[in-house]
Amino acid sequence: MTGRIRNHKSLKAVLLALALVLGACGEDKQSAGRPRPPTENEPPVVATVPVEPVPQTPAPKAHPVTAKTKETYQWYCAQCHGVKGKGNGINAPHTAVPPRDHTKAAYLETRSDEQLFHVIKFGGLAGGRAPCMPRWGHTLDDDMIHSLVNYIRELCHCEAL
Ligand code: HEC
Repeated sequence: MTGRIRNHKSLKAVLLALALVLGACGEDKQSAGRPRPPTENEPPVVATVPVEPVPQTPAPKAHPVTAKTKETYQWYCAQCHGVKGKGNGINAPHTAVPPRDHTKAAYLETRSDEQLFHVIKFGGLAGGRAPCMPRWGHTLDDDMIHSLVNYIRELCHCEAL
């Protein structure tokens, strides 16, 4: 172990971590997932203090449907697809091809999430669909588009192909 504490920086980090462990009465919330912290009767074992700070690796994003997703849908999509996704938005009568009804499972079940993502990001034309479905890749980031796909799955109560 001592071989790992080579320079002042890491020694400082260890001392600081030690002081934190001692000062925090073992209530160290940051230690989740790391080796068990020392109990009160047990002197802190230096080996349990990571010398290198472990960066918090974010869990793989699940793109949950949030209030922001629904707000985005109302703001950008409802004008054509309707407030409830039924394809009856205020612009629907004026598109050459009717906006897709996002509550219709029969159709949406035949499409994969990747296909829906692609059409939303790059527009109808890019996915072999009508050009009056605009492309949103310049306006919305990928995370938002993924969560919109999940929202459409909620609207249709259906699974991806
Ligand atoms: C200007 C009107 C308009 C707006 C705004 C619009 N769409 Fe569309 N969308 C359409 C039309 C029209 C179609 C049908 C295209 C077709 O069937 O060829 C469509 C189709 C789709 C489809 C089905 C693609 C497929 O595989 O058939 C999805 C998913 C979709 N839109 C998502 C969205 C989302 C999400 C938004 C908001 C970010 C949005 N649309 C905004 C007009 C619009």
